Amino acid sequence: MIYVDNNATTRLAEEVAQALAEAYATGYLNPSSQHQLGQKARRRLDDARETILNLVGGEITKFQSDRLVFTSGGTEANNLALFGLGKPSDGQVIISAIEHPSISEAADQLRAQGTTVRQLPVDSNGVVQYEELGNWLTEPTRLVSVMLANNETGVLQPVSEIAAICRHRQVPLHVDAVQGIGKIPVNFRSLQASAMTISPHKFHGPRGIGALVLDDRVKLNPTMFGGSQQLAMRPGTESVELAIGFQKALELALTALPTAGLRMQSQRDRLETSLLGELGPEAMVINGAQALRLPHTSNLAFPGIDRQALVMALDMAGVACSTGSACASGSSEPSPTLIAMGLNEEVISGSIRLSLSRETTEEEIDKLVFHISNCVKRLRRR
Ligand SMILES: Cc1ncc(COP(=O)(O)O)c(C=O)c1O
Repeated sequence: MIYVDNNATTRLAEEVAQALAEAYATGYLNPSSQHQLGQKARRRLDDARETILNLVGGEITKFQSDRLVFTSGGTEANNLALFGLGKPSDGQVIISAIEHPSISEAADQLRAQGTTVRQLPVDSNGVVQYEELGNWLTEPTRLVSVMLANNETGVLQPVSEIAAICRHRQVPLHVDAVQGIGKIPVNFRSLQASAMTISPHKFHGPRGIGALVLDDRVKLNPTMFGGSQQLAMRPGTESVELAIGFQKALELALTALPTAGLRMQSQRDRLETSLLGELGPEAMVINGAQALRLPHTSNLAFPGIDRQALVMALDMAGVACSTGSACASGSSEPSPTLIAMGLNEEVISGSIRLSLSRETTEEEIDKLVFHISNCVKRLRRR
């Protein structure tokens, strides 16, 4: 099977599996226990937390100390940011029109509870338009949340520009960096955000753990109760083993990044160019092509073809890809991201997502070109 659904999740790296196995064999116990065994677990957990924080550009110095809260994954970290940063009386919440459901549906909940939620629009390439943001921020605002890169199109978002406007108005900015980490260089301090979400299963790490990085100036209110772990911001016994797997995956991803990033980009570009050559420019549209994108993501529309039929035909041919966000797949709902981009119905209903990884080979790219063009031609004949 050729796996090009890496934005849904990635294969666990062998070295991570080994680090996890070793950690489980070591038998770390509860890091909150007071005995020596608990203290050993605590030291290893703190070490993983600090290493991860440093690797993503968080700062721990004499003068300031960013924090990292472990969660069960990206979804929980995004929910924690939306519900835990500030309080309802602090005012409106602003998100973009293309956020992952773990932000957009959490925002729906806030709206149902009486918070005003505004959405920044995107242009036809899927880039967030922030011209109105300064005006909007003249009203009391609790939080702005904008993703670093879109999970469906891979389009990079103007987060630094948005951060500058938020800073000027002293409004906290949360950045969902789930798809960016390990694919492009990401530095929390340079982003100048107040909070940032990470999810290691997107870079060959374990599923079941994620993190919310916090600037030392922001206060996070808990959304769960019943323990003093992680300064009571996110209670519950931490998994030292998963934290070790997280650390290992991040170290590997960042070591591989300089070469893997370039390789994935050249593979992705070759895939798109070859498919355009095979099918012709009238038969295929690259969504977000005019914008800066993550190096490994390709969102392709084959107007007139049903995306579900194409994904199923490709599955039969041995290609695992998707119609968009894994959280929305299973449903045949059209992609909110592509709708927000104002694309026409034929493009939206004929779009699939291919997401490569650092494991993707040139041979797989050749096979992808062959299978995708074959399936598209066959479905078109029908
Ligand atoms: C942009 C983005 N944010 C958040 C998430 C949720 O992360 P997790 O699967 O770790 O809950 C995803 C997962 O697809 C994502 O792509």
